[in-house]
Amino acid sequence: MTDAQPKTIYLTDYQVPDFLIDQTDLTFALAAQATQVSSVLSVSRNPESSDQQAALVLHGQELKLLSVTIDNQLLNSDQYQVDAEQLIVANVPDQFQLKIEVLINPQDNTSLEGLYKSRTMYCTQCEAEGFRKITYYLDRPDVLSEFTTTVIADKTEFPVLLSNGNSIKQGDMADGKHFATWHDPFRKPAYLFALVAGDLDVISDTFTTCSQRNIELKIFVEAKDIDKCQHAMDSLKKSMRWDEQVFGREYDLDIFMIVAVDDFNMGAMENKGLNIFNTSCVLAKPETTTDATYQRVEAIVAHEYFHNWSGNRVTCRDWFQLSLKEGFTVFRDSEFSADMNSRTVSRVENVSLLRTMQFAEDGGPMAHPVQPPSFMEISNFYTLTIYEKGAEVVGMIRTLLGSELFRNGSDLYFDRHDGQAVTIQDFVAAMESASGRDLTQFKRWYSQAGTPVLQVSSEYSADQQQYQLTFKQSCPSTPEANSDEKQPFHIPVAIGLLGEAGNLPVTLEGEQLDADTGDNTHRVLELTQAHQTFVFNNVKEQPIPALLRGFSAPVKLHYDYSRDELMRLMSAEDDGFCRWDACQQLAIRVISDAIKACQSQQPYQVDERLIEAYRQILTDESLDKAMVALMLQLPSQAYLSELADEIDVAAIHSARESVRQQIAVALESLLQSTYTANKSSEVYAPTAEQIAQRSLKNICLSYLSLLEANQYLSLAQTQLQQATNMTDSMSALVSIVNRDYPDAESARIKALADFYQQWQHETLVINQWLSVQATSILPGGLDRVKALLEHDAFDVKNPNKVRSVIGAFCNSNAINFHVENGAGYQFLADQIVALDKMNPQIASRLLTPLTRWRKYSSTRQASMKSALERILATADLSKDVFEVVSKSL
Ligand code: TRP
Ligand code: ZN
Repeated sequence: MTDAQPKTIYLTDYQVPDFLIDQTDLTFALAAQATQVSSVLSVSRNPESSDQQAALVLHGQELKLLSVTIDNQLLNSDQYQVDAEQLIVANVPDQFQLKIEVLINPQDNTSLEGLYKSRTMYCTQCEAEGFRKITYYLDRPDVLSEFTTTVIADKTEFPVLLSNGNSIKQGDMADGKHFATWHDPFRKPAYLFALVAGDLDVISDTFTTCSQRNIELKIFVEAKDIDKCQHAMDSLKKSMRWDEQVFGREYDLDIFMIVAVDDFNMGAMENKGLNIFNTSCVLAKPETTTDATYQRVEAIVAHEYFHNWSGNRVTCRDWFQLSLKEGFTVFRDSEFSADMNSRTVSRVENVSLLRTMQFAEDGGPMAHPVQPPSFMEISNFYTLTIYEKGAEVVGMIRTLLGSELFRNGSDLYFDRHDGQAVTIQDFVAAMESASGRDLTQFKRWYSQAGTPVLQVSSEYSADQQQYQLTFKQSCPSTPEANSDEKQPFHIPVAIGLLGEAGNLPVTLEGEQLDADTGDNTHRVLELTQAHQTFVFNNVKEQPIPALLRGFSAPVKLHYDYSRDELMRLMSAEDDGFCRWDACQQLAIRVISDAIKACQSQQPYQVDERLIEAYRQILTDESLDKAMVALMLQLPSQAYLSELADEIDVAAIHSARESVRQQIAVALESLLQSTYTANKSSEVYAPTAEQIAQRSLKNICLSYLSLLEANQYLSLAQTQLQQATNMTDSMSALVSIVNRDYPDAESARIKALADFYQQWQHETLVINQWLSVQATSILPGGLDRVKALLEHDAFDVKNPNKVRSVIGAFCNSNAINFHVENGAGYQFLADQIVALDKMNPQIASRLLTPLTRWRKYSSTRQASMKSALERILATADLSKDVFEVVSKSL
């Protein structure tokens, strides 16, 4: 950083805006390097501001100011001040019309924030603070305005002109140009503004709301992608119906549009009535799209649609409240996915993500509370903590209140705050009013960072038929507070007690045993103290406790189960999440033994019990195939790393691979027969049943590919040749590419070349092809990745390509990225420095693996730190990268 350090912004400094903008009228004359933006704003002093004499201070960045007019008086340049971030006009009336004209350059805007060009189309991305790159404005979420937007462009090049709300006027103009005017009747902050212009194809449909209003639905894409829109359209209609039925939320405008763009920093954006999507999160067809992506498209379409209420109708007061909309909306989309697919499988997938990625974030230098107290660059706070942990916190409120009171709380929240910009505290207050519960202590989940740790112990007295569970909670130190300063959390712990013949009734001391109350085998214990004991009466036998059913709280729970107890939970516990988790815990113990053996260079024999457990799972016809596939999946390298105090990359990798290998050897014929039994010639559909069957078949393939016999290479090759869907193709390709036997070398080269030949015109497929190579665990990964950067298919300006190659390599290829000599770290530093000049948001996100340096051996620590220091020493670093690097060192 050569400039002054970026300044930190604090939640406690919040002040209401000095001015309000009642109406916003925008006109865009589109031109690649000189788009003229004219804005006419009706501005008035905010009666709630403490400074009724305040100057008007507008945000603005990278704008060329042409003129400022107040009430039809053109201002001289001495009547205002303008610098790189602000336009200041002193001495303005209490109410006035402000007209501003600026020029911007979408063509050279590689940050993908504000107005930019993606291939042939213009589009915008304004969240969080991108609108200030379009014109001078009060670019803060608590300034809500009614927008009218006119877009002018060449008619042949840009036949489609879109903005928020309803189309009110369009027509032809001189010089082959045309225009369209859009009006959005709902007041909104500038971050929800959107504009799109392009030569786009469209699929259309309609939806009739619960009050019989007819809504037009449209998905706009480039012509090449028109055959990949149906799944998103189906997902949209399901989301609209579900939000009516489950949350009582009806859509409000007469039209809802989605546009797919290739260059996009994140997944998608909920602009009012005009959602903009990364192509990777909206396009799908069987030949090009995997099951995982089908499900991701469904979830993200739902997520953005749900924002129409949780985010748009009720928005955030300031960016410290980001989780108000994101945590709640992720909670909503997870519930939707659980209802559309298998609830247990959805839950397990969410928990895996949380435990692997969010727990790591919470334990690292960028850890922050769900409501952060400060930031330098808000773009750095679109994190797993804000999104996923924020959703868990909402989920805990539901667990504490029960579904019915939770729904009442949600209704009250939307009703009370419709059209307002509010805080997380307002959300909790609505839940409190609707339920009569006091959530004061619960709110510590929003203000304290770090993952709480629960130590649980049990005691059984046969004489008294009494069982006791004792919980001790603690929370590690995080940047905002030391461990000893943290107050106990209010934690809902859902439990059951497993006996010989199944789950036992659970009766807390002091309660009556009541045979009539529905499910008496399930209880939610509420921890509020650092140390707390619960006593259960009438417990006729010593039970195995099933703890944290459904993962009822985002904590690390430790209970000293024996391996046999884990086996028993795995097969007999009622709660699906607990069954899966018992399997994970058993596998973790087995791999831990293998890691120790690896570190002392001892041979290692896998505990027969894990093999036996897998054998049972594979033979039990009554089990859900998706669950079987999930259970067969060993804990990932990333999760095992998260669990380690010091990450021994090589030992974790070889231990895990060796356990996989031994499982494959021991269960070869069963894996083979399961593979065969789950082959299918059904027409592809992304249904839960089919997805389950494919995932079971493909996990069998991945185990079998670890075996030396050449028949398993052939098996993968045949699958790749005959596949009629991308799920099967991709699984086969991954198996071939990672196969570590001499017979695979030429097969690998051929498979990759043929695949490229076949799919070179499908960008999203090629992105997967890039990531398969970037994540190959065979030695020499860094050189392979460097070669990929030179490939025609790579483009450093496209975030999806960067994620597919650099992101995939550094985050999902530990054994190659963390090569002992530190070359991986220096490579990443070089990429970040180069990217920061083009796209700071993407550069900053790539830093994550380097920020975790404290978890590695001292040699690796030194090289990771030197990579970070080198980045920090670079001139003109963005705020984004500066914040993450400086906080990490
Ligand atoms: N609000 C978007 C979502 O979660 C997130 C988002 C999309 C975003 N694009 C962005 C955030 C660019 C920051 C920058 O649905
Ligand atoms: Zn969101």
